[in-house]
Order: sequence, then structure tokens, then C-alpha cells
Amino acid sequence: MKGLILSGGKGTRLYPLTYTRAKQLIPVANEPVLFRVIRAIRDAGIDEIGIVIGDTGPEVRETVGDGSRWGVKITYIPQDRPSGLAHAVKISRDFLGDDRFVMFLGDNVIQGGINTLIEKFADSEWNSQIVLKKVANPQQFGVAELNADGSIKQLVEKPKEPKSDLALVGIYMFDHNIYEAIDNIQPSWRNELEITDAIQWLAMHEDMRVHPYVHEGWWIDTGKPIDMLDANDAVLDEMTPGIADDVEIDEASTVGRRVKIESGAKIINSIIRGPTAIGENCVIENAYIGPYTSVYHNCKVSNCELEHSIILEGSEVSDVPVRVMDSMIGRNATVSHTTQKPTAIKMNLGDHSKLWLP
Ligand code: DAU
Repeated sequence: MKGLILSGGKGTRLYPLTYTRAKQLIPVANEPVLFRVIRAIRDAGIDEIGIVIGDTGPEVRETVGDGSRWGVKITYIPQDRPSGLAHAVKISRDFLGDDRFVMFLGDNVIQGGINTLIEKFADSEWNSQIVLKKVANPQQFGVAELNADGSIKQLVEKPKEPKSDLALVGIYMFDHNIYEAIDNIQPSWRNELEITDAIQWLAMHEDMRVHPYVHEGWWIDTGKPIDMLDANDAVLDEMTPGIADDVEIDEASTVGRRVKIESGAKIINSIIRGPTAIGENCVIENAYIGPYTSVYHNCKVSNCELEHSIILEGSEVSDVPVRVMDSMIGRNATVSHTTQKPTAIKMNLGDHSKLWLP
């Protein structure tokens, strides 16, 4: 089997963090979502992976490389514009050949691996396997309606009035019949070739079998900032804690049990409560870092309190007089305090930034 990861698209709902950066590269628990997806596919025994890339392709290529770090071979497949998930499959045909394959959306985070799913599909006669999950907001996803015997009745992409609460998770398995299905569908109202429509075509075909698997663990599509924080919570909860050998923690500091601190970091006169991840070369000084916080590489946090937040690399949060919570701060950002007159809130925010003052 081969793996196909979709990492194109624009990520508009995560603006401003995704103006210049691929949404799939935003880290949860200090690991880019895309890396987690590559690991899940590799751990299922697949070592040939294609990644569909769009405008942010150069950054994805640079960050991910040739895959040797994970022991896999990565082929990049440029998509000229985000014309839909089925379009992404169509343009990947040369890479995929007639092999069975798993397609994984590069912004999906799921509990557990996909090993069992892949094993079951590889050993089966099924033409496709889809993953479903009960959700509270099905209208935001592809939705599956099942028959009483568990087979698929209908699949609809983002229905206004969903017939069930079973959403399509961004993990799909196919054989070569998917290409014929894609050739038989039309672009949707959002002018995209929808993979949901192609699977519906397969499912309605008498000779084809699409197996629906209902996932019981958590699943998060990291489309919005709140989803990113949710995914960060879920992954931190399962993270293996550990402190790199060269981390410096002074005597005045307290570091809780469920904390991961990476190489080169310094913790000075601070309290760190897990689950929390602190990246490489961070300096945490006179600070409180509360549960469910991820501070990525090369950040400085001093004289302030931080909780339930994600701070991306190279940023500085210092001397903030109130606790910073439920926040996402981009790369190389500064959040600070000034005593300069006039006393006022001074901002230098990018387009689409959001600021909530107490
Ligand atoms: O997350 C699950 C949902 O993903 C499913 O429930 C929906 O049925 C499915 O259509 C998809 O919906 P989204 O609207 O969330 O898809 P999105 O546009 O966010 O794209 C998903 C990923 O695929 C993302 O990593 C970007 C990438 N992509 C997207 C498009 C449209 C591409 O690489 N190329 C594309 O043309």
C-alpha cells in the first residue's frame, strides 16, 4: 500500500497564523500536525508517501524533507489550486499507480494509530474503507447516513440538514476504482471535486463495497484556533513526559510530572504544571506555565503567567500583568508590558488578528 497526505489548501479559518505558513505545520504538543500524520502512516507499515502541496509547498518541502527522518520516501505532488480532495487524488494517479492506498488529510489529528484500519483493509475485498465519528456539529463535515445493517445509505458533503451525526473523518482507504468514481462526479457548489461525492458514487455501485468504520476515540479537524487548542489538550494528555539531559532547572523552580522539556531549555524560578510541553532552547524565567500549554522552540517567557495556550517558535511573552489563557500566539511575536507614557494599550497586530482585553 501507499500513503497520500493532503497538505495543500489555504487554511483561511486559521488566519493570521496561516497567512504565510501551512496550517498542517502548526504544532500541537510541539509536533507539527503533518509530522504526526506521517508517523501514523509509517507506523502502519507504509513507507512510500505522496504529499499533495499547494501555495505553501516550499515551506512543507523544506520542513518535511525527503522523509528519511522517519524512514519513509516522500514524493511531493504539486496541485496548482485547491480544487478539492478528489482533484488531489486525481493528480496523484501517477504516484499511486494501481496500488491500494490510504489518504490522510494533513490537518486531521486522531487518537491512536491507523494500524488496525490498514491491516483490515489490506486483507479485505473492500474497494474503500471510510472512517466515521459521531459529532455534535455534522453540518460542518461530510456526513454518512447508514442503513440498519450498518452499510452506507448516503454520503453528503456539509449538508444543511444532516441526516445523521456521523461525520467523515479525514482518513480514507481506496483501491484503483476511485479514479473511475472521480471521473463520474461534478464539481460541488464550492467548485471543488468532493471526495465525499466520489465515495458516494462507489457506495451506490452494485459491484463495489465501501466499508464504514466508526471510530470511538477522539478526532479533531484542526481547522479553527479553538480546534487547535482542543487538539493540543488531547495530544498533551497522551504525551510521554521527559526532560532532556541538558535542560537547566534551578532550585527555585518546580516542574510537575507530566511535563516534556526539550534540549537546551532553561527554567529559572518558575512553576511548570503539566501536561505541558516546552520546546528546545526556551527560557522560562519568573513565570508560571499552567496545564495544557505548548511553548515551541526558542521562546522566552518571563515575569508572567501562561495557561492553556500554544506559543509558536521564537516568540516572547514577558511582564504581562494578567494571566494569558486560551491563546494562540504565532511565530516571532512579542507580548509585553511597557511603563512608557502615555499609559495605553499599544498594538501592532497583523491582518485578521484577534485581541481580547479583560
Ligand atoms: O476533516 C474532515 C473533513 O475534511 C471531511 O468531513 C469532509 O468530508 C472533507 O471534505 C474535508 O472537509 P474540509 O472542508 O475540512 O476540507 P479542507 O478544505 O479543510 O481540506 C482538508 C485538507 O486537504 C487540508 O489539509 C487541505 C488539503 N487540501 C484541500 C483541498 C480542498 C488539498 O490538499 N487540496 C485541496 O484541493
